[in-house]
Amino acid sequence: MHSICEKMEKPIVLLAVESSCDDTSAAVVEDGILRSNVIASQKVHEEFGGVVPELASRAHQQNIWPVVDTALKRAGVEAKDLSAVAFTRGPGLLGSLLVGTSFCKGLALSLGIPLIDVNHLQGHVMAHFVEDGTGLPHPSFPFLCLLVSGGNSQIVRVNAYNDMQILGQTIDDAAGEAFDKCAKVLGLPYPGGPWIDKLAKLGDATKYPFAKPNIAGYDYSFSGLKTSFLYTLRDMLKEHGVETIDALAERVPNLREDMCASLQATVVDILMRKLKKAAQDLHITQVAVAGGVSANSALRQAFIDYGKKYHWQVYIPPFSFTTDNAAMIAQAGYFKFLDHDFCAIDEVPFAKTTI
Ligand code: KG4
Repeated sequence: MHSICEKMEKPIVLLAVESSCDDTSAAVVEDGILRSNVIASQKVHEEFGGVVPELASRAHQQNIWPVVDTALKRAGVEAKDLSAVAFTRGPGLLGSLLVGTSFCKGLALSLGIPLIDVNHLQGHVMAHFVEDGTGLPHPSFPFLCLLVSGGNSQIVRVNAYNDMQILGQTIDDAAGEAFDKCAKVLGLPYPGGPWIDKLAKLGDATKYPFAKPNIAGYDYSFSGLKTSFLYTLRDMLKEHGVETIDALAERVPNLREDMCASLQATVVDILMRKLKKAAQDLHITQVAVAGGVSANSALRQAFIDYGKKYHWQVYIPPFSFTTDNAAMIAQAGYFKFLDHDFCAIDEVPFAKTTI
């Protein structure tokens, strides 16, 4: 095993692997600068309308070596140059996580270098600190981060790179999950979030007033909205005497577009109101958004609008760092490396946890 001191004299070169769901990704950072970020998305789930865990694990197994190999080559480094290996330990699909975890353990063990475990959610927040050469502005501490993905919706107070506190989170569905499930009902492909975003641009956001939750504190709930969406469609099917969404769409002009626009506006309003409350209560004006749903155009616009209205400094990640990627894991791993915060070789992945 190389000593840490010996490694510190050379550039710190870190390989990171992300495999928590259906994207296999590998990235290399050198002295905190992103050198490569390779992502292989899995198309195999599209026909099932959601991620099939067993298929995801198998696809990760097929993709992991080519993705890592490409990331190393693009960064111009060889395995022997690595100072440490970072991996997403959770939360996520256990079978998927096992592939990345096992691969990284094997690599670290064979090279005699430290292993670093990264919490996937903390990784999303750390996307704001990736140094990709584009001059991405970094929030200063403390800041609030709205973390919205397919599996989580949280308001996080970020005190430092390694100190995050959840102020509120969904008590049922995540925002992305609500988008994906409602999109499925409308007969849109998986993942539905980007389709909702696309169709919403052509729709009337005031056409269908959906139920909004009334939850205390900074927590979220999206299951009532999902039911409201479903019941609106059910009532319209009954009213028009048809059984399928396609038949309904022939009778109700702009049905999908208006439903998407109304749903999107409701989700964004729910998310932003709680975030505003947290920012006001805590007197924090640095506000960031992260996670797959931060790719949503209405949410991004709401951040800009709230920023202007409430004098927030807002941080919206580039599209490439919104959905799952290893660049954010590499960045989080780099900060842990600087803290000498390594993990044991027998560390196991976890499916559920928060920050
Ligand atoms: O962060 P992510 O890639 O994976 C998880 O860790 O969950 O987030 C995926 C989620 C999916 O629910 C997807 O529908 C949603 O992000 N998403 C969007 C958009 N792009 C991705 N939701 C709304 N609008 C988008 N443009």
